[in-house]
Amino acid sequence: MEKLFDIFAKSYALSPEKDPEFFSYVGYLYCTDEVQSMRQYPQHSTCNRLDHIRAVTYMSYILSKKFGCNVKAASRGAILHDLVYYDWHDPDWSHRPHGFRHPKFAAANARLLCPDLTKKEERIILRHMWPLTILPPSSREGIIVTFSDKYCASKEMKLSKDEKKKKEFEKKLQQINSSMNK
Ligand SMILES: [Fe+2]
Ligand SMILES: [Fe+2]
Repeated sequence: MEKLFDIFAKSYALSPEKDPEFFSYVGYLYCTDEVQSMRQYPQHSTCNRLDHIRAVTYMSYILSKKFGCNVKAASRGAILHDLVYYDWHDPDWSHRPHGFRHPKFAAANARLLCPDLTKKEERIILRHMWPLTILPPSSREGIIVTFSDKYCASKEMKLSKDEKKKKEFEKKLQQINSSMNK
């Protein structure tokens, strides 16, 4: 299996032409105005929420395939896990404390966007902030999304703060792009 960092970097170079299987699971949701609107919100330092969501979803897709899990549930849960329509940095108590409350907001928004959301997908969203929130993931797919969320968030924060790491990431992305264009 590819290294986790390579999977994270590849999430910045995905396209429906080159990654049709990935987009067959989440392409429709990814293209909705609701998910695309995530681009306007900062997530971790300089990373926007759409980049974060795409990275978590791609990592969840790869890991759930690798471990023989329900790829569709993991990918759909991941792409909807942070679907909240506000900048969590705003000092607005209607959505604070964000860390504890946003899984419920995201699940409600996911149900509206996706009437066929399954119970498993809903629980993936509701429990992705564990152990900050009390209830742990209830499925292997939930564990994968919770792990991928934390891995990607830590990389996003490091890349925003560390010039050396950012250069390593850009080099890796160039390698990925040139190998895909061969
Ligand atoms: Fe979250
Ligand atoms: Fe997240």
